[in-house]
Amino acid sequence: MPLVAPSLLAADFLHLENECMLVNESSADWFHLDVMDGSFVPNISYGQPVIEAIHKIAAKPLDVHLMIEKPERYAADFKKMGARYLTVHYEACTHLHRNVEQIKTLGMKAGVALNPHTPVHLLEDILCDLDLVLIMSVNPGFGGQQFIDRTFDKVRALRRMINAAGLATLIEIDGGVTLQNASLLVQAGADVLVAGSTVFKAADPKTAIQTLKEAR
Ligand code: DX5
Ligand code: ZN
Repeated sequence: MPLVAPSLLAADFLHLENECMLVNESSADWFHLDVMDGSFVPNISYGQPVIEAIHKIAAKPLDVHLMIEKPERYAADFKKMGARYLTVHYEACTHLHRNVEQIKTLGMKAGVALNPHTPVHLLEDILCDLDLVLIMSVNPGFGGQQFIDRTFDKVRALRRMINAAGLATLIEIDGGVTLQNASLLVQAGADVLVAGSTVFKAADPKTAIQTLKEAR
């Protein structure tokens, strides 16, 4: 059974409390929170004050996806704001091992995200240190984009690497996840499905979440 992490980027920000309660009451596992800096990605989302507010009512772990340069500047802040998982981008970190150690030393689970063009084999020498690998299945920065099909091969390749090394690292898929491709992703080896539009633009978000949970 995959873990399901609704991305609040697609939520109605005028009714953020209701949207958080909906996730609390649903079969979702985590809150996926996308932080963008307008530099690493061509968009700005929301930051610390919003995440702090969400943390007050969130009854499930916060899975924070940092699409920012120099994430080491803010790792301690995100710990204080209640992040359980903190994910940084491979492409944004010159000293990735140092970033991962910092996140774990602060008491969070460490994730690394890969852009669509970044091959999974580049993680070979750091995979054993990671709690999670986030495979971007769209170019980061925006919700509602079209899923990139090449992702399936990347998930299968990463699943082989993780199994061969006997690790428990989670594979998370982010971008363009739908009720149609969810099962194929789970079959390829995905553990966590992030979904923004598929959840929050659905007529019945809780049913959409439950359908993702049932992907086999
Ligand atoms: C995109 C973000 C995603 C985004 C996914 O850069 O990382 O988490 O919210 O949105 P959907 O599911 O609509 O593609
Ligand atoms: Zn994300």
